[in-house]
Amino acid sequence: MGPAVKYRFIKKATPAQAKEIITLYRAQGWWDKKASAAALNRLIRGSHCFVAAERDGKIIGMGRAISDRAGDAYLQDVTVDPAERGSGAGRGIVTAIERRLKRDGISWIALIAQDNSEPFYLKLGFKTLRRARPMLAGNTYV
Ligand SMILES: CC(C)(COP(=O)(O)OP(=O)(O)OC[C@H]1O[C@@H](n2cnc3c(N)ncnc32)[C@H](O)[C@@H]1OP(=O)(O)O)[C@@H](O)C(=O)NCCC(=O)NCCS
Repeated sequence: MGPAVKYRFIKKATPAQAKEIITLYRAQGWWDKKASAAALNRLIRGSHCFVAAERDGKIIGMGRAISDRAGDAYLQDVTVDPAERGSGAGRGIVTAIERRLKRDGISWIALIAQDNSEPFYLKLGFKTLRRARPMLAGNTYV
């Protein structure tokens, strides 16, 4: 185990941070555009919050929330570097975002559990939405 993981809310990624974050997006197949710090920073700026999990100054995980800033929010893009999984970073990311949302008056927090991550979210206290099905507009990049 290396040094402890720090969870930092960022409002703007430095060029070095942008590289690390885009690497995490790419590893999940969530980034098909060219690696542009400007595009990433638009996404960060437009989010309710964006958390970077850092170990020893390197970003090893991330997550963000999108919201109406009034009552509802969705978690999005939660991921941990495969080499760093299983040691609590995922839980740390989700907990940090949930705490921040509650502090900001958001009480309805939801997400789409992708790629068999449902057991992870169940462990963290989330419940499966009954009679619900995630949908995507036609021709959307997945
Ligand atoms: C899902 C993900 C973020 C979990 O990150 P992680 O750092 O490995 O998770 P943690 O170590 O904090 O795990 C927290 C708890 O969930 C459990 N857990 C984690 N992943 C699990 C899984 N796939 N199945 C069952 N339990 C799981 C852990 O064992 C741990 O339980 P414990 O507290 O009893 O020890 C990570 O596996 C990942 O990046 N996956 C790919 C991206 C993805 O699918 N993200 C979700 C998109 S919605």
